[in-house]
Amino acid sequence: MKYFVAGIALMAASLAFMAQAQPAGRPNVTAKADALLGRMTLEEKIGQLAQIGGIAFVPGSPKPEDAIRKGQAGSILWISKPGDINRLQKVAMEETRLHIPLIFGLDVIHGFKTLFPMPLALAASWDASLIERVHGVAAKEARASGITWTFAPMLDIARDPRWGRMIEGAGEDPFLGAMVARAQVRGFQGNDLTSQDHILACAKHFAGYGAADGGRDYDSSYISDSELWNVYFPPFKAALDAGVSTFMSAYMDLNDVPATGNSFLLQDVLRKTWKFQGFVVSDANSIGDLVTHGFARDRKDAAFRAFTAGVNMDMASGTYNENLLALVKAGRITEAQVEQAVRPILAAKYQLGLFDHPYVDEERSKAVVGAAEYRPIAREAAQRTAVLLRNEGGLLPLSKDAVKSIAVIGPLADAKRDMLTMWSGFDVDASTTVTVLEGIRTKLGGSARVESAAGVQIAKQFRSMFEDLFGMKSAEPWTEAQARQEFSKAVDLAKRSDVVVLALGEGAMMSGELASQSSLEMPGRQQELMEAVAATGKPVVLVLVNGRPLNITWASTHIPAILEAWHSGNEGGNAIADILFGDANPGGKLPITWPRNAGQIPIYYAHNTTHQPEGGRGFSSRYWDQSGAPLYPFGHGLSYTKFAVSNLKIANTQVKLGTPVEVSVDIENTGARAGTEVVQLYIHQRAGGASRPVRELKGFEKVGLKAGEKKTVRFSLGKAELSYWSSASKGWVLDAENFDVWVGQDASASLHAEFIVQP
Ligand code: BGC
Repeated sequence: MKYFVAGIALMAASLAFMAQAQPAGRPNVTAKADALLGRMTLEEKIGQLAQIGGIAFVPGSPKPEDAIRKGQAGSILWISKPGDINRLQKVAMEETRLHIPLIFGLDVIHGFKTLFPMPLALAASWDASLIERVHGVAAKEARASGITWTFAPMLDIARDPRWGRMIEGAGEDPFLGAMVARAQVRGFQGNDLTSQDHILACAKHFAGYGAADGGRDYDSSYISDSELWNVYFPPFKAALDAGVSTFMSAYMDLNDVPATGNSFLLQDVLRKTWKFQGFVVSDANSIGDLVTHGFARDRKDAAFRAFTAGVNMDMASGTYNENLLALVKAGRITEAQVEQAVRPILAAKYQLGLFDHPYVDEERSKAVVGAAEYRPIAREAAQRTAVLLRNEGGLLPLSKDAVKSIAVIGPLADAKRDMLTMWSGFDVDASTTVTVLEGIRTKLGGSARVESAAGVQIAKQFRSMFEDLFGMKSAEPWTEAQARQEFSKAVDLAKRSDVVVLALGEGAMMSGELASQSSLEMPGRQQELMEAVAATGKPVVLVLVNGRPLNITWASTHIPAILEAWHSGNEGGNAIADILFGDANPGGKLPITWPRNAGQIPIYYAHNTTHQPEGGRGFSSRYWDQSGAPLYPFGHGLSYTKFAVSNLKIANTQVKLGTPVEVSVDIENTGARAGTEVVQLYIHQRAGGASRPVRELKGFEKVGLKAGEKKTVRFSLGKAELSYWSSASKGWVLDAENFDVWVGQDASASLHAEFIVQP
């Protein structure tokens, strides 16, 4: 037997590098927190553990000002206007005994006022510096409004596109997810939380929410320990290493134990193994919901279980305020435990500089929030997150000179709110958002006839509470006659135009929380519209405005050009027009494997092989009714130029266990214009203490190249890349084994080399 399990040694070594890096100034703020704790009553300490909803989410919730006055609030959420924030902060600062400032938390997910592409789209940029910059702007605008804490980033690995919240994360891959997590945390938190430019970040939802059964939001997740450590945890660990200040627990049952009452997650992993120093907030009402789950007997039991499992702060359920005092008095929890829970919350308030500057400068806020200088960043982000899925015959880019008439067709052609997401904030003002139609009109500036028709309507069959919360009305459905007329109008428009841009996909509220979908078909009659438009014989470009991969299998062979533009934010329409007319060259890459239809779910590239792999002994597909392969592989995305990856070299093909393997490869822009490509490195371990995935992403680099330019890209595969968590030995192992390496432009890369790790 050739392999060698170095589990124990590696585990010990990794425990050392697992401790969370101490954020600058931490010992100092902890000392201040301790001094303050020494002056606080037990009631005051418990009050700091409560986060109160600025809007009453749970019936009977207290009014924020009342809770603050009673010393029963450490934080407020769902309030975003500087005036309201100052008003409530004043109550804390002037009407409570110890004048402890409040932290104001909000879901700042893909921007605050200036809205950027949705998070999954940002992951499609594979660009850490862009992601950091975007979240830096979000933090700056939020902080200028008085928000000091965002409930982001969402780090849930998602391999089921039916799950609506796939939109909020970085997709299916732990390695890419970890890169995105680090960049998001750096962007939000920066190096100095006292500066007026940064806010606390929150790694959520710990952990396993993305694996909800059937993709149904909030449903139970059943995840093996191997998948937890190898797939679901790494982005959280990366956020922790980047210094993330807070974590949020999740709603669902993880292996039958609700995440909010799960001490394996919140104590064993987060605190004992990873040495997390910050604080954990529950998800909204998730402590109260421990009763609904059939886990806790009553609200008191729920408070006890969440508290002892490791949840410091109760988001909006009221259970801590109601029960912790009685639990201490009954001797079920100790005051020392309460202090331990409060300490990092107070430390965060010191870190934010709130004791010195509790209020927000309302004048400054007017200048910073939504400032014009951020719009170009939003445009650039939308350009760089779009993924060109298909470009048959080089239909794109279109020529501004040659196109004399263009039809922009579809329910998403001119839909401002749908360029955004459900997470675009509580007081969304979509008016400054540029639609696909507007972007194209501006781009062509009168040189061509630009006309539009919706063709069809799209609507959800069931509304969620969020439409009501955000005061969104459902559009009046067309009558049958109207529907027929609008459909024909769109097809007629296509017939009398040189080229058609079809903007199809999903509305903003069709993905996100409580927005799962049973199928991946395009909602409504969009498929029918697409087929009718294609039948006109006009050149058609499909622009997808959506939050998840949809079934575009028909389009993938009938529509020559397909651009995945996602929900792309305020500047989406301009960026799409830039790409369609060649002023920007797409370089986005899929952060998810694109299924042919919902029947293939779950489908992800890093699966294990079966005993009879597809294409092997008499087994040509895993299904007899369709190919087992995805429609587009993970990492796929085209450019207007061409790249060649060659000369894959491994400097040391035989290494001793623990020595990094050095890989290099050349990338050349062989086309006629500048562009960017993401060079991706995948490995496969051929044998060992556990079956390993057929491929795993272990390195990538985004490279910008001029026409004809060539660069060498280098990767180092060290212990972090080559080890994995084994359910056989219940720990991290690095096997002395044979490995394959592929480098290329997506997960199907064929350029191959191999190396051996020796004991
Ligand atoms: C969501 C969280 C969010 C929280 C506060 C919950 O419903 O699951 O992701 O941060 O609400 O808005």
